[in-house]
Amino acid sequence: MTAVGTDLAANPLSVGMARTVAPEPCAFVIFGASGDLTSRKLLPALYALWHDMLLPARFAVVGVSRGDMDDAAFREKARAAVAEFGRVKPDGESWRAFSECLTYVGGDIGDAQTFERLREHLKKADTERGTAGNRVYYLAVPPSVFPPLIKKLGDAGMVEHAERPYTRVVIEKPFGHDLRSAKALNEELKQTLVEDQVFRMDHYLGKETVQNLFVFRFANSLFEPVWNRNLIDHVQITVAEPIGVEGRGAFYEESGILRDIVQNHMMQLLSLVGMEPPGRFTANEVRDEKVKLLRSVHIPMAEDVERIAVRGQYGPGAIAGKEVVGYRQEPGVAPDSVIETYAALRLEIDNWRWAGVPFFLRAGKRLPKRVTEIAVQFRAVPHLPFAERAARAEPCVLVLRIQPDEGISLRFAAKVPGFRIAVQSVKMDFRYGTSFGVEPPEAYERLILDCLLGDSTLFARADEVEAAWTLMDPILAWWGAHRPGDFPNYEAGTWGPAAAARVFRGENRAWRRP
Ligand code: BG6
Repeated sequence: MTAVGTDLAANPLSVGMARTVAPEPCAFVIFGASGDLTSRKLLPALYALWHDMLLPARFAVVGVSRGDMDDAAFREKARAAVAEFGRVKPDGESWRAFSECLTYVGGDIGDAQTFERLREHLKKADTERGTAGNRVYYLAVPPSVFPPLIKKLGDAGMVEHAERPYTRVVIEKPFGHDLRSAKALNEELKQTLVEDQVFRMDHYLGKETVQNLFVFRFANSLFEPVWNRNLIDHVQITVAEPIGVEGRGAFYEESGILRDIVQNHMMQLLSLVGMEPPGRFTANEVRDEKVKLLRSVHIPMAEDVERIAVRGQYGPGAIAGKEVVGYRQEPGVAPDSVIETYAALRLEIDNWRWAGVPFFLRAGKRLPKRVTEIAVQFRAVPHLPFAERAARAEPCVLVLRIQPDEGISLRFAAKVPGFRIAVQSVKMDFRYGTSFGVEPPEAYERLILDCLLGDSTLFARADEVEAAWTLMDPILAWWGAHRPGDFPNYEAGTWGPAAAARVFRGENRAWRRP
């Protein structure tokens, strides 16, 4: 971890930041080594971990993809990627030692021979680099390739089920397209792997502020007693982005924001805010509680969808003063596309803690700014004893800012100085950056390290993914069957369609302006 303008040791808040457990020797195999994910995220994360001495010395990174490259070319490509995208830039001796870990195997992953060659290559790595037969296979390839690729690994005898040497497989979202395909994918994975070997990456769980939700809720006695229907009026979760579909028009046409962001990242946030405290912070105990929460969310019926879900699509507009095109004008998008780039939901949780407390979720592309936050809105006081009209107090709001400007703020009522009782909302604010004075690790660094340590707490389990799809399926089915008549229904650079207020059903609630 890099200190930003401060000495780590000098900041008492930073105590405990360093990792103490080192992963065992291992070969880290990247399928899809010439792709975008490898350049933007995987290689920079691996190098940052290496640089910060969090990887074992006996380590190998083996890139696999179709292109013809030798080790030297792969190393050069890796250096350029880390220089461009890395939090830690390639640095003298440390880069030289890391680049020695990097080797490349070219070949088609549809071809059994590629796997034979890879197997031999990995055996050699075991001898030359001491990787001890341990393997992480990172599938940076399209999801349709997961099942056949994993089967080929199994057929080639490259999957161990023993505790040591271990085999772990990392896959990236989307985990299916709907409940049925997610179940089918889980079934297919089960043919070759056991659940503990599958690491389903949702990079939101690698974010420092998302993990802080656990600590905030379960390491403070102050908040947990009020974290329920007695004092909370409702919760709003927002994932707003000014970016559009960024050249991924064709992907978005198959996906839409409900699948791209709500089903995974937002369901993770919802389950962390709503779950019961686990007995211990272990992978299965934490995930059991998350699944229990997701299963308590009221499953929307077809006839509810119009009342609880609103979709939107951006038209042309301006972001930060710059004109941008509408979704339908993006490359790869149909001129009459009905795919949503905005979604707002009202979810109700049927359990003792949350009955009657609606959770409002919204996600959108081309909104005015980048902000991910969870706002917990408390109830108004039952009675105000002050006579003056100016004494009207806004209810308290606790905002957990996931990004950017990571931190937590609490809005509460205070007396305006003077001879009368006038009340005004003020804010208590905690900021990660200024309090700790260090830059947190990137989500991919944290999650890759956890995978190497065999800790799947921050990875999605099969039943968790299925529980989340169970909630999305009725909405997707209704949206699929009913063409929206009003698309595009929000201008790029605005806070989404006016119809999003429908989820409040005329109650005295409104979307926040983050
Ligand atoms: C990805 C989505 O999973 O998350 C993108 O596919 C989205 O559409 C991104 O932009 C948001 O991630 P972050 O870390 O920038 O909030």
